[in-house]
Amino acid sequence: MVLPLRALLAGGRRLPRPAAAAFGDRRLCPLSLPPVAGPPRWAPLSAPLPAAPAARLCSGEAEAAGGDGDRAMLRHLARKLRASGPVTVAEYMREALTNPGQGYYTRRGGVGESGDFITSPEISQVFGELIGIWYISEWMAMGKPNTFQLVELGPGRGTLTEDILRVFKQLASVLSKCDISVHLVEVSPKLSEIQAVMLTGEKVQPNPEDESAYMKGISKTGIPIFWYRDIQDVPPGYSFYLAHEFFDALPIHKFQRTEKGWREVLVDIDPEVPDQLRFVLSPSRTPATQNFIQPEETRDHVEVCPEAGVIVQRLASQIEKDGGAALVADYGHDGTKTDTFRGFRNHKLHDVLSAPGTADLTADVDFSYLRKMAQGKTATLGPIKQREFLKNMGIDLRLQVLLQNSGDTATREQLLHSYDMLMNPEKMGDCFHFFALLPHHRLVHPDKKDKPESKSPLPPVAGFNELLLK
Ligand SMILES: C[S@@+](CC[C@H](N)C(=O)[O-])C[C@H]1O[C@@H](n2cnc3c(N)ncnc32)[C@H](O)[C@@H]1O
Repeated sequence: MVLPLRALLAGGRRLPRPAAAAFGDRRLCPLSLPPVAGPPRWAPLSAPLPAAPAARLCSGEAEAAGGDGDRAMLRHLARKLRASGPVTVAEYMREALTNPGQGYYTRRGGVGESGDFITSPEISQVFGELIGIWYISEWMAMGKPNTFQLVELGPGRGTLTEDILRVFKQLASVLSKCDISVHLVEVSPKLSEIQAVMLTGEKVQPNPEDESAYMKGISKTGIPIFWYRDIQDVPPGYSFYLAHEFFDALPIHKFQRTEKGWREVLVDIDPEVPDQLRFVLSPSRTPATQNFIQPEETRDHVEVCPEAGVIVQRLASQIEKDGGAALVADYGHDGTKTDTFRGFRNHKLHDVLSAPGTADLTADVDFSYLRKMAQGKTATLGPIKQREFLKNMGIDLRLQVLLQNSGDTATREQLLHSYDMLMNPEKMGDCFHFFALLPHHRLVHPDKKDKPESKSPLPPVAGFNELLLK
């Protein structure tokens, strides 16, 4: 099957995006960091390490804590730790990122030029356009169902959905008989307001009558949009899910192998330095150690994100029941990396234990864990490197067209620079990966085993294979 998408790749012009050159560190792989010198990073509870100084975490300068407002989360955590003892890294991360009053995403938001980190959709419109094409390509390959929900988890500023909806509009003739709705799962009130303005062109009123969707509006292109706090609130139905740099923001547990067996890394208050946090090890196994460390584990340090597992289980069940697909894009590994927990503030690496609530905290996604949590309910594809996925999706053709359509040198330079950011193996090209959940029948004909020659071949999945154009 060939898709009528060449015309789309060949149209349009560059839309304004911030100058990617203006940013320092993005949320890039920590591989470029120098090895940690000095004593081992984790120690038993009887000999706790001091709170990790920033120099151990980053190659650049570390950001210091700011004013009094910035210390509110630290004070809250310090009180809690003094009252009830150390907490898991997952609990620390959850508080620091999504505490309803002082959490980083709740209060600060963080994505974009004036924030703490930049993401691919914020760098170039081409990224979102190619993802929009991926969904249309899959919709066509799955027999053009007459309705679908686009469900984005953690939409940031809404830029990615905006670019996808523009593609849907440009392909209105193909999608004309399809009833589309958009469902955004966003925990941050601040970011949901920004998304509403980006996608609908205005502020959207809260939606108190509906218990599940806390806001609703209509996109600039006429598509209904709903906002939820939790994926469980999204109504069932044929759905295309999208999670771009979402799973890396979910809380992780950290475990360290010791002579006495596996121990969980905890966050505690330093008894000798007021309001300073430090890592310690649990004195014995914790419930998480028992549940999440596999007997065959060979690494000495492991990070597990159970919340990601629960969400992937849900996506896989929904896709198995109602149809659709999920596309996950994030930095990550296939069950091989160890210590990837890090912080970002003002586009610089930031000590994860310093000034909680003022910096983005993140850890690489373990795609092998996501694959396992799909529990065979769907097929999985990837992870495949971002530069391979985008190349397969036709980024080179799209770049050429935008270059041809742009008159001035500054715009052309900007286009080339953002292409380099997305594709260069040293930048985002190699450390960001794409991973997909698809119904089994999308990859293998149900009756293929019995009658291998009975059906024509299934269309390849774009991105993981080359996009077919006409
Ligand atoms: C790193 S940002 C990525 C934003 C966007 N996808 C992008 O690539 O530009 C993470 C997003 O997930 C949201 N988020 C974080 N934790 C969440 C949770 N537990 N439930 C829903 N949204 C969450 C944040 O508010 C933010 O919108």
